Amino acid sequence: APPHGDKSAEVKEESAAVDNRPISTIVFIIAMQTEALPLVNKFQLTEDVDSVFPKGVPWVRFYGNYKGLAINIVCPGKDPALGVDGVGTVSASLVTYASVQALKPDLIINAGTAGGFGSKGASIGDVFLSSEVAFHDRRIPIPVFDIYGVGSRKAFATPNLLKELNLKVGKLSTGDSLDMSPMDEASIVANDATVKDMEGAAVAYVADLLKVPVIFLKAVTDIVDGDKPTPEEFLENLAAVTAALDQTATQVVDFISGKCLLEL
Ligand code: ADE
Repeated sequence: APPHGDKSAEVKEESAAVDNRPISTIVFIIAMQTEALPLVNKFQLTEDVDSVFPKGVPWVRFYGNYKGLAINIVCPGKDPALGVDGVGTVSASLVTYASVQALKPDLIINAGTAGGFGSKGASIGDVFLSSEVAFHDRRIPIPVFDIYGVGSRKAFATPNLLKELNLKVGKLSTGDSLDMSPMDEASIVANDATVKDMEGAAVAYVADLLKVPVIFLKAVTDIVDGDKPTPEEFLENLAAVTAALDQTATQVVDFISGKCLLEL
């Protein structure tokens, strides 16, 4: 080939080669330790003591090999002052950024629990693969900033995975509150969301910045438009629903094993 050939063609070929290679490294971003630990056990992962992350941060990484895949589960860990899990968008974006920098994954899987909308077909224990994610608490009513605030992004398309595992599909809306204010509700309706979480759109933002494919597995712990108070319903169902999430996550990883991105 000539030394100064068609650069765009070369670049295209390179990215095609990347997509045809079997997936080798996966990073799970999971906000709560309760959600992560059953999967850590299932994949027989080890906690990283010599952290790839800056000294002193609470972020936790579990790693190991499972069916030919380098699996990492990264959690924001416990808030240093309060001892509770670092849920929400700020921690999620930071650990996603640091994980991509350190681990160069082929794929990010953001897995966790979510509130579901009964009116959109969600039931307790359902695991959704989200096709699209957006924010519902970033209202900036100035042209273009409004769209920036909503921050809508598409998940990496996985039609074969969807067919094989028979997962429910729905849009995901993200905000930093467990409850839902009337303003949030209006945005969630505008986002056409079936499930609501506290990290997804933030993980999507970082994945998009760093050009890493991302998918979202969200298990429903509470029905937002039902009659039970969300905090009680969430805590009541957390353990059982986490088991359903982990079962699905395992099936997803089993499906991914040996495949390239374009086969998903
Ligand atoms: N995670 C679990 N239930 C949730 C809800 N109702 N809102 C946001 N995140 C959640």
